[in-house]
Amino acid sequence: MEIIGGNRFLKGEIKIPGDKSISHRSIILSSIAEGETEIYNFLDSEDTKATIDCFRKMGISIDKDGEKLVVKGKGLKGLAPPDCILDCKNSGTTMRLISGVLVGQNFSTILTGDNSLNNRPMSRIINPLKRMGGNIEGLDNEYPPLKIRPISNLNGIYYKMPVASAQVKSAILLASLYAEGETIIEEKGPSRDHTERMLNYFGARINKNNNLISLKGGSRLEGRKIFIPGDFSSASFFIVAALILEGSEIVIKDVGVNETRVGLLHVLKEMGGNIEIDNVKNFNNELVGDIYVKYSKLKSTNIYGNKIATFIDEIPILVVAATFAEGTTTINDASELKYKESDRIKVMTEEMNKMGASIKALEDGMIIEGGSSLKPAKLNSYNDHRIAMALFIAALKAEGKSYILGSECINISFPTFFDIPIRKID
Ligand code: S3P
Repeated sequence: MEIIGGNRFLKGEIKIPGDKSISHRSIILSSIAEGETEIYNFLDSEDTKATIDCFRKMGISIDKDGEKLVVKGKGLKGLAPPDCILDCKNSGTTMRLISGVLVGQNFSTILTGDNSLNNRPMSRIINPLKRMGGNIEGLDNEYPPLKIRPISNLNGIYYKMPVASAQVKSAILLASLYAEGETIIEEKGPSRDHTERMLNYFGARINKNNNLISLKGGSRLEGRKIFIPGDFSSASFFIVAALILEGSEIVIKDVGVNETRVGLLHVLKEMGGNIEIDNVKNFNNELVGDIYVKYSKLKSTNIYGNKIATFIDEIPILVVAATFAEGTTTINDASELKYKESDRIKVMTEEMNKMGASIKALEDGMIIEGGSSLKPAKLNSYNDHRIAMALFIAALKAEGKSYILGSECINISFPTFFDIPIRKID
């Protein structure tokens, strides 16, 4: 796609579609709950369709009824054997989370994905699920396709997480619904806690005490009504856009502001960003609020430590903010970026530098010299949705025509991205 940069700004109210992580979880939990779940503001995107397709193939009725999705749950053991391989497409959340459910079933399944997903690490879920007694195998114990076979019973475990990952934590929690006894997870650092919150909302016996999460096997889940908050990760592209595009002033309504997701806001505020959250409410155990953002002069910062998991998906757009900040920003302890839909350290460094940014890739992060002025360029998203959106926002600051190869991947998480009006100073 083509982007004409220069003299752009954002003004007024912006509406962001439903949260991707919470949308996935709403389908998974409602499918294995008893009774009906109504889901409002579900994210209609490629990734969430992959999760819906998997559960439909296991006999779950998931239908649109006007504004809402209705899922007819069949209980923990009510899924039917699929008559084909389950295709998780580009979605790591689909593959890793449903593996946790599938190790507890009395039928075999095979999970595969697209080329990107089939090259992402899976030993992080295979190992703990095997310790619980699950029969799950990948190529070299690492890569999809994953083969899952039935076993007589799973057992609860104490698991100390080697990485801060909500997908790994969630896979173990979902498997522990099927296990005998209690499972305790010791988190390395905070990661998004939507699974815990939704499990609690659906009636599971789950507890959290500092960095320890425990769940008793055999919990019965009950279908509920769910409103999905706006996706903070999608909002983050427009939060940064408003901060760096002179004259911008926006409000983004009804965004999820769960503390385990909004780490980027703390970083941007530290950088001098004029951002406020207002009108916070609780919907089905999740906090939702309105985010006000005004153009601001940003300064550099240093980012490191275990809080990074609370904004790991926002690092590509944070790199864009740092490019326009005064001073040098360093990011460390972020090697997980290499295992996302693309190697986000390498790709953001190379593509931003094509526009004239000054970024150095590190083994676990980046060094970004701020204050660069960008020039238009031919860019490649490497079919990574968050890279495509971050580069799009960066290109708005480059006077002239830029191109992004593979920008249709934005449909993976934010199909209405191009509907958000971006104005031009006349
Ligand atoms: C997600 C967890 C994160 C995140 C991903 C969505 C989730 O992955 O990067 O986009 O919904 O649980 P990790 O668990 O690998 O950090």
